[in-house]
Amino acid sequence: MVIQMNGQPLVVVEGLKGHYVGMFGVVHGVDGVSLTIEEGEGVGLVGESGCGKSTLAQLVTGVTGPMLHYQEGTVQVDGYNVYDIPEETLRTEVLCKRLSYIPQAAMDSLNPVKRITGLLQDVVKERTGRRPTSDEIRRTAGDHFESLGLSRGVLDLYPHELSGGMKQRVVVAISTLWNPKILVVDEPTSALDVSSQKMLIKTLAMLRDRAMVKSMLFITHDIPVARQICESLAVMYCGQLVEVGPVEGVLDAPQHPYTQGLLASIASYEPQQGGQQWLESIPGRPPDMREPPPGCRFHPRCASAEARCAVEEPTEARLADGRSLRCWRYMGGL
Ligand SMILES: Nc1ncnc2c1ncn2[C@@H]1O[C@H](COP(=O)(O)OP(=O)(O)OP(=O)(O)O)[C@@H](O)[C@H]1O
Ligand code: SF4
Ligand SMILES: [Mg+2]
Repeated sequence: MVIQMNGQPLVVVEGLKGHYVGMFGVVHGVDGVSLTIEEGEGVGLVGESGCGKSTLAQLVTGVTGPMLHYQEGTVQVDGYNVYDIPEETLRTEVLCKRLSYIPQAAMDSLNPVKRITGLLQDVVKERTGRRPTSDEIRRTAGDHFESLGLSRGVLDLYPHELSGGMKQRVVVAISTLWNPKILVVDEPTSALDVSSQKMLIKTLAMLRDRAMVKSMLFITHDIPVARQICESLAVMYCGQLVEVGPVEGVLDAPQHPYTQGLLASIASYEPQQGGQQWLESIPGRPPDMREPPPGCRFHPRCASAEARCAVEEPTEARLADGRSLRCWRYMGGL
């Protein structure tokens, strides 16, 4: 892929916190995340099940509720502070033109009684306030679908007439109709067979190659796919980012003890078990996010932990290759 990153920040997240509130108490799903995504940059987001990846994706869109609450911090998307603009501006300027979000399992929530044309009419109406005719949709969306390798005929089908792989590619096509500057996509390949996964990855790569979508926040459990389509990798643990940097650097020479354990555990990771398992190569379980451990959140499972780790929370350290780490070992503290 020939991707041009131009050094301009497109999405700037600073000190972001958000939580779920319910009978179960307060779950701190995202608890102090800072991340910058440049124009033209694809960032992969990885981490154990339940560490907060989907929560972060949702908070970046500026749309929360009913259980998820924004707590503090800022999210700038192309200069718009999503938590400090009117709802109408968020909808028309940010979500319509700049950022598109494909939630986890989006393809399972397509309205089954509408043809793809009808779904597109609804989306256009929601974003622009005007419902186009089905002929207008066929003309405009048809070209876009074809450019992504989908036939125009797909527009006249119902979701149940599409395979899982096709459905997911249709979701991607619908979500990128307006050429958003950034696509936030949450585990798009996890329910697909291998050949459908390959097709979808090709579609996502094509979007970026043709500059239809330049930047991406790509959530995945599939590290080889992240390496294939992202320039950077962010590793999340218990609601926080613990290591962020160039994808090759992080994967080939992980520095944070958690990243090292995560990568070492890939061979033992089996998504078909429902994502509820914990990593076998890291002792212990992920912490309860209602009461995160004090100090470094990883200290109860970290083989390198020392006394300070259990009481003082590490701040962010920067390495020469642009990587940022949350670990006392890189703060000269241990
Ligand atoms: N609707 C909800 N209500 C209460 N807690 C929630 C809700 N959704 C997620 N959580 C909790 O918030 C935390 C972060 O969950 P999140 O779904 O963001 O993790 P994830 O990294 O996306 O996991 P996965 O890889 O399984 O998709 C977890 O402890 C999870 O149990
Ligand atoms: S701060 Fe301490 S406990 Fe946390 S990852 Fe680093 S060495 Fe391990
Ligand atoms: Mg998730």
